[in-house]
Amino acid sequence: MATVSFDKATRIYPGTEKPAVDGLDIHIEDGEFLVLVGPSGCGKSTSLRMLAGLEDVNGGAIRIGDRDVTHLPPKDRDIAMVFQNYALYPHMTVADNMGFALKIAGVNKAEIRQKVEEAAKILDLTEYLDRKPKALSGGQRQRVAMGRAIVREPQVFLMDEPLSNLDAKLRVSTRTQIASLQRRLGITTVYVTHDQVEAMTMGDRVAVLKDGLLQQIDTPRNMYDKPANLFVAGFIGSPAMNLVEVPVTDGGVKFGKSVVPVQRDALNATSDKTVTVGVRPEHFDISDAEQGLAVTVNVVEELGADAYVYGTAKVGDDSKDLVVRVNGRDVPEKGSQLHIVPRSGETHVFSTSTGARLSD
Ligand SMILES: Nc1ncnc2c1ncn2[C@@H]1O[C@H](COP(=O)(O)OP(=O)(O)OP(=O)(O)O)[C@@H](O)[C@H]1O
Ligand SMILES: [Mg+2]
Repeated sequence: MATVSFDKATRIYPGTEKPAVDGLDIHIEDGEFLVLVGPSGCGKSTSLRMLAGLEDVNGGAIRIGDRDVTHLPPKDRDIAMVFQNYALYPHMTVADNMGFALKIAGVNKAEIRQKVEEAAKILDLTEYLDRKPKALSGGQRQRVAMGRAIVREPQVFLMDEPLSNLDAKLRVSTRTQIASLQRRLGITTVYVTHDQVEAMTMGDRVAVLKDGLLQQIDTPRNMYDKPANLFVAGFIGSPAMNLVEVPVTDGGVKFGKSVVPVQRDALNATSDKTVTVGVRPEHFDISDAEQGLAVTVNVVEELGADAYVYGTAKVGDDSKDLVVRVNGRDVPEKGSQLHIVPRSGETHVFSTSTGARLSD
């Protein structure tokens, strides 16, 4: 087991000017499950591949434990990687696939068999050991790929979107299995996904990347409660946080007929005439017409327990689309009007010009 550090690690691909990963600074604790998340092209795979030794590092350093591995070849880093497409050998049995790296390393047959059987037991694959990959379901193949990583007992697991080939239901059950397995084995893990729900449910901490730059690294709770900027605010949470540009008034910011209190300090920190207020769909209360912001209901998405109202409100001179979560048993009619107020303590304020969080 080991800590992992990205120390201002930078990757500039040959023939490009802008770094794909720019001065990445992350320290991962021993045994921690860290998720790298962000939109397509933000540099997740590049970061992981730098750690794996599959990509050159053009600036900064990478450490595993107290070893500087920046320029070590992959085989000397003591890591195991699980890819999106599993990359199983089709002509080999499950057992041979799982034991292959050990065989290459010259481990004797009896020891390989023992390690493979142990891993198969953990992953519930014992009865499939003699099958070929093509005779397995997607979820079972995914577990074989995990098994191949586990038998090597590496210091660090690296996983790049390992669940993206699975259907929605299997993805949910497998993500729970991976998270609990990781906790049981206690092996430091860096996990890449573009799915913020996966990131939030699996990670001890989550690192959000955009355009090669780290936006925030935090626990899932803090990521949700205190997004550091507009990008993270809009990225984490589903449906996304409502973000509305509003004028600054005395004592706070005006949101429809209600004034959202904001600390003076936060407002003094900006010279903008407006700020951007964020409220998650689940943080509105239904109010009477006197107080709230009037929302015209366009579409209602019923999910059973809850429903999401997609509506339009007039904010200042603009009309603005909003999403509001309501009780699934008390759903407004399409075309009707709803009055909403942001729940106190559940509003976020950001600088409109820089995107930085202003409220604490
Ligand atoms: N070999 C390469 N040569 C040049 N540019 C590359 C190369 N590989 C990746 N890039 C660029 O580097 C940036 C980061 O790519 P990367 O694969 O790390 O993104 P990602 O976050 O993993 O995206 P996705 O979610 O789509 O897998 C992208 O702009 C991509 O086009
Ligand atoms: Mg990728």
